[in-house]
Amino acid sequence: MKTIRSLVAMRRWRESAVGRVVLVPTMGALHHGHAALIRRARRLAGIHGKVVVTIFVNPTQFGPREDFASYPRPLARDVALCAENGADVVFHPSAEAMYCGDSSVWLNEGVLSQTLCGKSRAGHFRGVCTVVAKLFLLAQPSDAIFGEKDWQQLAILRRMVRDLNFPIRVVGHPTVREPDGLATSSRNTYLTTDERRAAPRIFQELQAAASRPGRLDQATRAASAGIAKIPGARIDYVEAVDAATLEPLKNRRMPGRLAVAVFLGRARLIDNVPLPVVP
Ligand code: PAJ
Repeated sequence: MKTIRSLVAMRRWRESAVGRVVLVPTMGALHHGHAALIRRARRLAGIHGKVVVTIFVNPTQFGPREDFASYPRPLARDVALCAENGADVVFHPSAEAMYCGDSSVWLNEGVLSQTLCGKSRAGHFRGVCTVVAKLFLLAQPSDAIFGEKDWQQLAILRRMVRDLNFPIRVVGHPTVREPDGLATSSRNTYLTTDERRAAPRIFQELQAAASRPGRLDQATRAASAGIAKIPGARIDYVEAVDAATLEPLKNRRMPGRLAVAVFLGRARLIDNVPLPVVP
């Protein structure tokens, strides 16, 4: 496996690569959720294709009061995880290489970014879209894999690829969970022992609400009430949305997602579950 740091070297590598190139963008602090994405990429690329994992803690998607400075950066361990799971290349550029000090061109998605996390994280999806578009242009993948855990991000990036005609297939990968159901996340390490013990209730409440018969607003309210009872939890949102447009879901005739963001101690945790069509 090769580690590439400069943009020039990345472009040069891409020019020489033939066949499928499958990209897995990450911010590092890799866990078994990321590992599953890399293995999926390996299967997609096959023996002749290539798997590129990018590790870049993207400064432009963090708000001023968010955890950019303290975001974990265990690079040696990350590189080893990429190799173990079948990556061919780790692309790990510096922030200075990725952004000129006076960057003034940004990529803004204007509709799907306005809801859910977009409401409380101003500019977040502008940073995500901009960096992912830059990574797409550098690595020119045939396919790119993103996790369903970040459902809104996945929906926005699908929209970006559609609207800007990137010749890239976006593949969504199901959420990987800890044995107790908590969605695996680099930010779970921020939880205290007590918070970690309580955190699986977020997923339990979502699942219970999603499988509840009856009205959608009652299910959403039940999930909110259950999550609000977790000691130390502060709800940012609990919402039932259309799976593709992220508009508020009015009924169960279209596929939906029940999505949540909740502050638990120092961590802001997100999760979502499907709301399948009810005939
Ligand atoms: P990061 O949080 O490192 O996540 C990288 C990829 O792993 C994303 O596609 C995310 O959805 C996926 N992922 C994280 N935890 C997962 C889990 N438990 N199950 C399945 N997939 C999971 O998301 C980002 O980085 C950034 O916003 C990025 C797209 C790299 C742009 O900077």
